[in-house]
Amino acid sequence: MARTVLPNETIPEGRGVLGPPDVHLLGRMHREREFFNQRVRPAEVEEAALRVPPHLEQELEPEVVSLTQMMAGKTVCDYGCGWGILSSYYAQCGAQVYCFDISEANIALTCRAARINGVAGRLWAQVMAGEWLAYPQEFFDFVIGNAVLHHVDIVRAAAELRRVLKPGGRAIFVEPLGENTLLEWTRRCPLRSAAHQHSPDEHSLRYAEIRQLERFFERVEVRETRLLRMLVRALEEFPFARAAGVSRNWLRRVSVRLGRADEWLLRRCPWLKPLCQYVVVTLEKRETRGAVR
Ligand SMILES: C[S@@+](CC[C@H](N)C(=O)[O-])C[C@H]1O[C@@H](n2cnc3c(N)ncnc32)[C@H](O)[C@@H]1O
Repeated sequence: MARTVLPNETIPEGRGVLGPPDVHLLGRMHREREFFNQRVRPAEVEEAALRVPPHLEQELEPEVVSLTQMMAGKTVCDYGCGWGILSSYYAQCGAQVYCFDISEANIALTCRAARINGVAGRLWAQVMAGEWLAYPQEFFDFVIGNAVLHHVDIVRAAAELRRVLKPGGRAIFVEPLGENTLLEWTRRCPLRSAAHQHSPDEHSLRYAEIRQLERFFERVEVRETRLLRMLVRALEEFPFARAAGVSRNWLRRVSVRLGRADEWLLRRCPWLKPLCQYVVVTLEKRETRGAVR
């Protein structure tokens, strides 16, 4: 059975290098937790929705794929794990996975997903906030987060990330990019289905915000992704696509092709990069000391 670690159970040293969260941040954490707890009733989620899908690798960004190829025997954190499908996948890749989320409902689903995917023995799930981690210092080889950094206080999160990463450790986040005004408008459009509504405090990352990470990490690399490929997401969301019998397999094939077209296009027209839907942020910790510059 996947272990749900109790708060404080694994805290050999102090946490929160920037001190405890203030009232403003606590309010934000509370709203996020409520938002995600209310979105789902764990008991009603079907088993099939928690299985690692067979072609998951094709959906992942190349930076994440290359990390998964190095994961065997490593200690990996799935940061803001949601339902924990990726956490289970990382465990299937041979990692010892520690994952956390601010929502209790999501952590309940993560534990169920671990059992369903047969990896409960090497997955530890915990309710926790990204700005206030309970993990020991220099604990992780890798940290991976999918669509989560834009939900947290990025400066606090970065300070904590640096603390828990081993020297030489790497963190990768795949996050919505907020430089495309039209895309931002569609993201906030009230006509979107309930499943795609935004929490009150989340916001797509801007370049200025990403640059703040340079205070904490020796290497910060940014790669924009999903320009044409964002059309697939739009199709997935349109009810008529489902009604017209557009299959997931077909969408996946189109997605892979558009991904290749994006690579070609963005190499030739770099000025299109800010219009992309997502950004992949790679952070590397090279030193042992001198955390915040
Ligand atoms: C868009 S979902 C992504 C979930 C998951 N990574 C995935 O790919 O399915 C964002 C997640 O961030 C979590 N979250 C929001 N604020 C958080 C915080 N301060 N600390 C930890 N998790 C948080 C939410 O509960 C939610 O599960």
